[in-house]
Amino acid sequence: MSNHPRTSRISGFHRMSPGDRLAAVEGFAGLDADAVAQLARPGNLDPQVADHMIENCVSTISIPVGIATNVKVDGRDVLVPMATEESSVVAAVCNSARQCYEAGGFTTSVSGTDMIAQIQLVGVPDPENARIRILERKAEVAALCDGCDPMLVRLGGGFRDLEVRVIAAQGGPMVVTHIVVDTRDAMGANAVNTMAERLAPSIEEWTGGKVYLRILSNLADRRLARARAIWPLDAIGGEAVRDGMIAAYRFAAADPYRAATHNKGIMNGVSAVVLATGNDTRAVEAGAHAYAARGGRYTSLSTWEAAADGGLAGTLELPMPVGLVGGATKVHPTAQACLKILGVSTAAELARIIAAVGLAQNFGAMKALATVGIQQGHMALHAHNVALAVGADGPEVGRLAAILVEKRQVRQDVAAAELAKLRGQA
Ligand code: MEV
Repeated sequence: MSNHPRTSRISGFHRMSPGDRLAAVEGFAGLDADAVAQLARPGNLDPQVADHMIENCVSTISIPVGIATNVKVDGRDVLVPMATEESSVVAAVCNSARQCYEAGGFTTSVSGTDMIAQIQLVGVPDPENARIRILERKAEVAALCDGCDPMLVRLGGGFRDLEVRVIAAQGGPMVVTHIVVDTRDAMGANAVNTMAERLAPSIEEWTGGKVYLRILSNLADRRLARARAIWPLDAIGGEAVRDGMIAAYRFAAADPYRAATHNKGIMNGVSAVVLATGNDTRAVEAGAHAYAARGGRYTSLSTWEAAADGGLAGTLELPMPVGLVGGATKVHPTAQACLKILGVSTAAELARIIAAVGLAQNFGAMKALATVGIQQGHMALHAHNVALAVGADGPEVGRLAAILVEKRQVRQDVAAAELAKLRGQA
């Protein structure tokens, strides 16, 4: 073992071939031969595994997995696998993380690993009274929930809290019970849904009402991941860039039309890591957007302000229900290999890295938008897609992409004509 600290600053990574990049990741993460072979194999989901994962499976679709370099989270360098079909997303994280690396990178935390399940009760004549009657049974509820999953309890998780709300709804008040359960390294949907279903008959018995829904809430606000970082002024290009970015944030904070796009940029980073690790992208996305609207008006998930030293300080906070055990995370060998690259041993560590990536992604988009615009960088990368789309092959792809960027015309009709020229057919 070398005594040198592992660094995510890998010079020239983007210029290497995919094979050389994988070798660099292998060296960084100490990947075993199986993980390397899995990552090196294109179309790497066995049809039999796929057939067990979903119903009526006929095929699989491959999405590129890129590696974000330059990321330092809580003092530890990490290489972050990101699964995305969108060009610019991985590059944006690399660039954004590089600009805060020397200043310490990202500091992260979580509020916990608690999930919430809801039990909907209707037809109660005395909802306020029923609410109190359910709350009185907290010890019974705890025993019933923990009895559903002794393994979870042995791992330090289990029932944590009981909340009962009376909500006004069409057709009359509903009594909604929340069980709060620490699901530790599991995302926890199965655990809490089982508990909610098991608890429902008792709630009906205690109240005389009728239970309908018993299901987790994706507004997982007991499972928040947080990240913050400060980008020094000289790293980002000075006060004008900082102020432009703060203005961009203020726009998102004030306007839901802009906030939706601003948050979409954050989710470009978040969902890519969630997907690469086999976690549920829809659960995280639903939670993020619901959390963004928790004050009654949809707004930015991140905040940006001038730091005391004049730099640019960003924060991000959002629900992050991701796990390391269960579901596709455990079954999909590429997800397993991606977790090895990340070197995480708890769901909380994974959640924290994802929050850091979301913040980096947001920084990258805001900086481009507040300065040169998004199209310059995006089109340079998108040109490769356009070149591929018109049939460019091998070295033609890079050459054709460069021509399109040079002409500032990243369009299929232009690409087809230029490809014909390259091949001497026009
Ligand atoms: C594109 O996928 C994401 C952006 O629109 C995000 C943003 O506008 O902040 C660039």
